[in-house]
Amino acid sequence: MPRHVRGIWLSGAVLLITTAGTVAEARQAPTLPEIMRQKLEHSRQLIEGLVLERFETIERNANDLRILSDLSSWNVLRTPEYQRYSAGFRDTANRLSQAGLDRNLDAATLAYVELTLQCVECHKHVRGVRQAQGLADRPWPELAQIDPDRVKSRGAAP
Ligand code: HEC
Repeated sequence: MPRHVRGIWLSGAVLLITTAGTVAEARQAPTLPEIMRQKLEHSRQLIEGLVLERFETIERNANDLRILSDLSSWNVLRTPEYQRYSAGFRDTANRLSQAGLDRNLDAATLAYVELTLQCVECHKHVRGVRQAQGLADRPWPELAQIDPDRVKSRGAAP
């Protein structure tokens, strides 16, 4: 293979390897359903990492979860509660990945349980808003149109 062709081929391979590295780099703007399915996959891998004591798996998947929650398409609802749930989720994901780095299995397990509670809590909020707005069966893009001032769900600050 001529030298310049080989050079191009090699830099292509390096590019592929580096872009496969993280969720954020591999896909420019994943849609909300994609993000949500990826969350589930990372949670599955987290429980596997915990029971098999694979700290690297724990660290990587917690970190990917945090990156997902940073993406703009994650921000479906514009309610203060949704922002709070998102921020809490990010904090816990950070703590979980740090526990993986520290090789601290107990801290990681606790953070995982907390993270799971946060998944459920945020979903409760989203379902509540959907129901209150009569959007129970509608596709998610309509959620983003909801005016936060019109949302009065249980647990909201007065
Ligand atoms: C800050 C809020 C928030 C948190 C935290 C959150 N989610 Fe979600 N999730 C959403 C929203 C919004 C949707 C879209 C819901 C809708 O369309 O009604 C969703 C949808 C989903 C879906 C459904 C996707 C589909 O195919 O319809 C799954 C599965 C899911 N989330 C898993 C998780 C898991 C697992 C966690 C925790 C690791 C989590 N979520 C944490 C907000 C959140």
